Amino acid sequence: SIKACIFDLDGVIVDTAVYHYKAWKRLANSLGFDFTEEQNEKLKGVSRVRSLELILQWGGITKTAAEQEVLATEKNTWYVEMISHMKPDEILPGAKEFVQACRDAGIKTALGSASKNSMMILEKIGMVDLFDAIIDGNKVSKAKPDPEVFLKGAEAVGVAPADCVVFEDAIAGVEAAIAGGMKAVGIGSPEVLTEANLVISGLDKMSIEKLDEL
Ligand code: G6P
Ligand code: MG
Repeated sequence: SIKACIFDLDGVIVDTAVYHYKAWKRLANSLGFDFTEEQNEKLKGVSRVRSLELILQWGGITKTAAEQEVLATEKNTWYVEMISHMKPDEILPGAKEFVQACRDAGIKTALGSASKNSMMILEKIGMVDLFDAIIDGNKVSKAKPDPEVFLKGAEAVGVAPADCVVFEDAIAGVEAAIAGGMKAVGIGSPEVLTEANLVISGLDKMSIEKLDEL
């Protein structure tokens, strides 16, 4: 049975995916090109550095490592400005309730996010204390689809990977969960998150009973 639930942050607990998209789009536009919503799907769950590499590739632009550093910082400055105004009412429907329901049921909870801004977001929305472990982009070296972030989460709460469920909105994140030997619940569309064990539109559609059916 399921002993731990590991949650991605962006697109699962909060809709920061929209802010990431806006900031990347602004950066791409400033470089003279645009990218599609479909390409944006490929950025979900992907680290800041890797996202920039992909975007530059799509725009057919080459930049030195030093220039890339400047561009990534620029994007992050815009992004941080947007998330600094976040309020608890931006928690996605049912997210806080489901994390709390897990705790009430004796199930461990962990955050597993690639974002180096995770802590700031959790503080803004008042959810820091709801997680037994917080593994973010500052604690991992290998980006999703590598399972490192989730394996560290499982280890931190003392639960075997096979007894963990990961909640993810990103293709790379679902792949990371499966690669780590965990169950994956996709948040989004079944056509996109094809490898997930179950796909739901949001955590408001999840329940402790459904965990047992996975
Ligand atoms: C999450 C998001 C990605 C983002 C990554 C790094 O995985 O889904 O879109 O690029 O975190 O976030 P950061 O806040 O560190 O730039
Ligand atoms: Mg995500």
